[in-house]
Amino acid sequence: MDWGMANRMAQLIQPDGHALFLPVDHGYFQGPTRKLEEPRQTLAPLLPYADAVFVTRGVLRACLDPVGAKPVILRVSGGTSMVGKDLANEGITTSMEEAVRLNAAAVGISVFVGSDYEKETLLNLGKLVNEGERHGIPVMAVTAVGKELEKRDARYLALACRIAAELGARVVKTYWCEDFEKVTRGCPVPVIMAGGPQVDTALDVLEFVDDGMRKGAIGVNLGRNIWQNDFPVPMIKAIRAVVHGNATAQEAHELFTSEKEKETKSN
Ligand code: 5RP
Repeated sequence: MDWGMANRMAQLIQPDGHALFLPVDHGYFQGPTRKLEEPRQTLAPLLPYADAVFVTRGVLRACLDPVGAKPVILRVSGGTSMVGKDLANEGITTSMEEAVRLNAAAVGISVFVGSDYEKETLLNLGKLVNEGERHGIPVMAVTAVGKELEKRDARYLALACRIAAELGARVVKTYWCEDFEKVTRGCPVPVIMAGGPQVDTALDVLEFVDDGMRKGAIGVNLGRNIWQNDFPVPMIKAIRAVVHGNATAQEAHELFTSEKEKETKSN
């Protein structure tokens, strides 16, 4: 691996082999998502606990200070919206030259396996990998399902992750699911778990993160399940305890509860 590529991968994946990415890219198709209406405010208290942020160039420029910034995974696919015809019909929105100019540690692109736009999104991934490899910038592939959340099972996700890895993604982000080991075993590059819409309780989140880590994920790219929680800082601290501290879901939940109490008392 070239020095630049190795250096960027090391910015993302920490010396323990694990990673906690904080995505705030949702606005690129959802608009002002709940609790992400003002990205700068959402991000500020959480940044100290994130290894990298997943963000579009617009929010990067407007809401993140370049001095002392966390490594950036630049979201470079888009072109669709929640109110449009098909979320899968994404193209590449941001050039590799721009990623270099913004000093991105990686670029991220969604692929929609099994959709009407499977071929286009997979060829976009291939093109992005060609450019990324030329510039020493890793590509993170996102196995997206659009509005079809029911697609998230091991058979489908294993297929989508393997295809993304075969096309050259250096990291694959996918959803946690039952039998998650089938997804990680079939994917020869590091797998990161996304969260999806907020689940019922903090313990539910910590349990799936714990399960996924034990079944081969190297970390998380969790957005709404952190910053839509009423206590986002205790939540990211608890997630960090699982990802980097090898805490069980139960131990991390105790940390969440005590951090929550501290925060409530100090307000
Ligand atoms: C959708 C995405 C999301 O915008 C995001 O990166 C994942 O965050 P969340 O944990 O909220 O699902 O990439 O494909």
